[in-house]
Amino acid sequence: MNAELNNHPEKLKVKLVPLAEKHLEAVMEIERDLFNQPWQVEDFRGLIAKPEALSLTALAENKVIGYSCCWIVIETAELGNIAVAREYQGRSVARTLLEATIKGCRKRKVTVLFLEVRSSNRRAIELYKRYRFAEIGIWRGYYSHPVEDALIMKLEL
Ligand SMILES: CC(C)(COP(=O)(O)OP(=O)(O)OC[C@H]1O[C@@H](n2cnc3c(N)ncnc32)[C@H](O)[C@@H]1OP(=O)(O)O)[C@@H](O)C(=O)NCCC(=O)NCCS
Repeated sequence: MNAELNNHPEKLKVKLVPLAEKHLEAVMEIERDLFNQPWQVEDFRGLIAKPEALSLTALAENKVIGYSCCWIVIETAELGNIAVAREYQGRSVARTLLEATIKGCRKRKVTVLFLEVRSSNRRAIELYKRYRFAEIGIWRGYYSHPVEDALIMKLEL
């Protein structure tokens, strides 16, 4: 990343810590607010328990304001979830989470990071493109509520 992008004027200072049980109540509140098909608390719990997961909580002003969930299988990783509470969006929190995830993947010798995103989710797609994720395919009708295609994106690390 170049210096200009890292020094975004609106950038909020956040602390990143591993996702933990104590964060889940706040995480579920954000998750239910942002997604039509929210993950269940057990989905997050499953990742906390897994050593091959790389899941982060973003904290600011003494509260949970965002999170990202990634899991690694040998040299491949999947970013399964990333979200920032509505009132904190647009202040580079997702960038901070994504940069830490990419760094963590590199440290664990991951060579490729995949994700899927709703084809209408412009914000998320812009974010991923900024980090040089490439569109590599489409799964037709992958999502429900509403039915929508998934864009598959990949970042070579
Ligand atoms: C997508 C999401 C995680 C971005 O979080 P965020 O903290 O607001 O993002 P950032 O402030 O770090 O912005 C990073 C980049 O995202 C894109 N972005 C953010 N807000 C945007 C907006 N309103 N319009 C277009 N692009 C936007 C831009 O590329 C931005 O880079 P820039 O600040 O240099 O312009 C957040 O909007 C969110 O939680 N959305 C709902 C959950 C979701 O859709 N998650 C992704 C599932 S695949």
